[in-house]
Amino acid sequence: MAEVMGHPDVLPQLLQLPYPSAEVWAARLAEMLAPGRNDLLLMAELQDAGGHWSVVGNAGLHPCGPPVRRRHAMSLGIAVLPRAQGQGVGRALMQALCDFADDWAQVLRIELGVYADNARAIALYQRFGFEVEGRQRGYALRGGEYVDTLMMARLHPNPPRIGGWVASPTGSPPDA
Ligand SMILES: CC(C)(COP(=O)(O)OP(=O)(O)OC[C@H]1O[C@@H](n2cnc3c(N)ncnc32)[C@H](O)[C@@H]1OP(=O)(O)O)[C@@H](O)C(=O)NCCC(=O)NCCS
Repeated sequence: MAEVMGHPDVLPQLLQLPYPSAEVWAARLAEMLAPGRNDLLLMAELQDAGGHWSVVGNAGLHPCGPPVRRRHAMSLGIAVLPRAQGQGVGRALMQALCDFADDWAQVLRIELGVYADNARAIALYQRFGFEVEGRQRGYALRGGEYVDTLMMARLHPNPPRIGGWVASPTGSPPDA
């Protein structure tokens, strides 16, 4: 995590600070895994020519906060090392996150912020059904300059319903 999130070509696209340490990330990861937390963090690994696997990216879904009325929403973050970009890693991570949100986690709304000039990430998000909902001007300091971000969100394309059968006392469908 420290290597990916702290890479000089990745970090400016995030809200992270320079010089992250492995210890800080270990503590953050432990926090995300604490009982009662519902974060999902996925790692992407690639195998090199020598057969060695290494982590090249990550993507996460995180609760938007404690309010009960926001339980249907989660925020998304994603990062891939430059040497692994453009090979479908981002797409694979996004697919896995969206499937998890749609089919398992009761998430109706995924939201995120992206710097307005991050064309690559914006294109990836749009491919997965995210739409721009607004622009936050001068949102964050990035390399000595205040820059705008776009707020984007994706609503569940086909929100789940209770199935066509009503549970019997045995738990079996009526005509099973
Ligand atoms: C954004 C990011 C996660 C994409 O990951 P990736 O592994 O390179 O993505 P993929 O290889 O799966 O490509 C995703 C899509 O972007 C497209 N793409 C590639 N380069 C592009 C560019 N310069 N501009 C626009 N789209 C581009 C690809 O064609 C692909 O589209 P397709 O699925 O229709 O073929 C990665 O570039 C990254 O980590 N960037 C730095 C951190 C960052 O910006 N994180 C997002 C913060 S909001």
